[in-house]
Amino acid sequence: MTRKFLDNVYDHIGKGIETFYDDWADTYEAEVGENGYVTPARCARALAAHLADKAAPVLDFGCGTGLSGKALRANGLTTLDGMDLSKEMLAKARAKNLYRSLHQIAADTPLPFETGTYSAIAAIGVIGPGAAPLDLFDTLLAKLAPSGLFVLSFNDHALEDPAYAAKVTACAEAGSMRVLEQEHGPHLPARNINSTAYLLEKL
Ligand SMILES: C[S@@+](CC[C@H](N)C(=O)[O-])C[C@H]1O[C@@H](n2cnc3c(N)ncnc32)[C@H](O)[C@@H]1O
Repeated sequence: MTRKFLDNVYDHIGKGIETFYDDWADTYEAEVGENGYVTPARCARALAAHLADKAAPVLDFGCGTGLSGKALRANGLTTLDGMDLSKEMLAKARAKNLYRSLHQIAADTPLPFETGTYSAIAAIGVIGPGAAPLDLFDTLLAKLAPSGLFVLSFNDHALEDPAYAAKVTACAEAGSMRVLEQEHGPHLPARNINSTAYLLEKL
C-alpha cells in the first residue's frame, strides 16, 4: 500500500522536514491531487492579477515538485526561479521544464540572492505546520524591494495558531506592507481543509 504522507505531514515542522519531503517526492502530486489541491491556482490568479509585467522575475520559494510553478505559468507568468530544501522535490520540478533556474537551499542560512532581485515572491503551501516556520514570512518580505509582491498561503492547520494571521496584521499595521487581496477558500477540499491566500505589496 502506498504510504500516505498527508496523514502525518502537519506534525512536522522545521527539523527533519527536508527528509520528509525527499521521501514524499514520488507520490506528492498524486496524493495532493486526489485531495483536490487548489491553493496554487488561487495564489497564482491573485498574483497574476496584480503583476503588470508577466515576464518579471518571480521566485517560487518552496517550489516542491513544481505544482506552484505550473499554476504561476498557467496564469501567464513566464520567468520563474524555484528554491526548495528537498533535492528530490526539486528533481521533480526540474523535469517539468517550467523554471529558469532551480536551487537547493539549506534552512537557517541566508537566502542566496540580493534584496530586490525578484518582482514577486511566492510561498505557496510553504509556511506552517508541515513545512517552514512562521519567521520565514519576515525573511521573504525583507527580500522584496518596495512595490514588490508577496503571495502566500496559510492553511487551516496554521490558522489554528493565531500567530499566523497576527503576523500579517502586525506587518500591515507597522506599514511594512499592505494587503491587496486576502481570501479564505479551498485548500485540500477532499479533506475539508481550507487556506487563506494573501497577496501583499511591500511598502
Ligand atoms: C507542501 S509543499 C508545497 C510545494 C509547492 N509550493 C506546492 O504548492 O505544491 C512544501 C514545500 O516547502 C519546502 N520547504 C519546507 N520548509 C522550507 C524552507 N525552510 N525553505 C525552503 N523550502 C522549504 C518543502 O521541501 C516542500 O517542497
